[in-house]
Amino acid sequence: MTVRLLALLWAVGLTGVAGCIHPRADVPYVQTPHEVVAQMLRLAGVGRNDVVYDLGSGDGRLVIAAARDFGARGVGVEIDPRLVAQSVESARRAGVGDRVTFREQDLFQTDLADATVVTLYLSPALNLRLRPKLLRELRAGARIVSHDFDMGDWPPARALRIDVRERASQVYLWVVPKS
Ligand SMILES: C[S@@+](CC[C@H](N)C(=O)[O-])C[C@H]1O[C@@H](n2cnc3c(N)ncnc32)[C@H](O)[C@@H]1O
Repeated sequence: MTVRLLALLWAVGLTGVAGCIHPRADVPYVQTPHEVVAQMLRLAGVGRNDVVYDLGSGDGRLVIAAARDFGARGVGVEIDPRLVAQSVESARRAGVGDRVTFREQDLFQTDLADATVVTLYLSPALNLRLRPKLLRELRAGARIVSHDFDMGDWPPARALRIDVRERASQVYLWVVPKS
């Protein structure tokens, strides 16, 4: 079975919606519902002093909501240039073009040092691959929020179930400890 087929099954199995996948992407594009986006940002306690990174930012909705609704600054990191262009245009229309940036970049090549909040909607395996990088690069007290996927044996500080139109989403929060 190819990686691409597995990725597509991930999307179909977990969301009921087949996402499209860029050739260099590790997981397909599937959107977080707007209601879940708001709950993720609330769970992380996002505010004006935060810099929110969405790793695999899709159409930019998490970063745009963080800036528009919570006053934060944001950085979206996305491998698919089409989605990056769409995000830039949506941010401009939402009036937050000066508070957010979108980078066409592999999330594993992204320096996370200035992030205070990281949001994720990836896969269980990708979260586990990313975990050492998050713990190495983020400062103590930074918050990580993940839609649907946990971090293996790193227990979340909080977990929420959110029901939106007959689909149940899980949202997890971790706080980076002092090393
Ligand atoms: C499930 S979607 C989530 C989109 C958005 N964060 C949301 O929650 O609505 C995952 C996104 O990650 C992107 N992606 C996959 N692998 C990536 C990588 N290695 N670096 C950057 N982006 C990646 C995909 O193109 C896709 O847009």
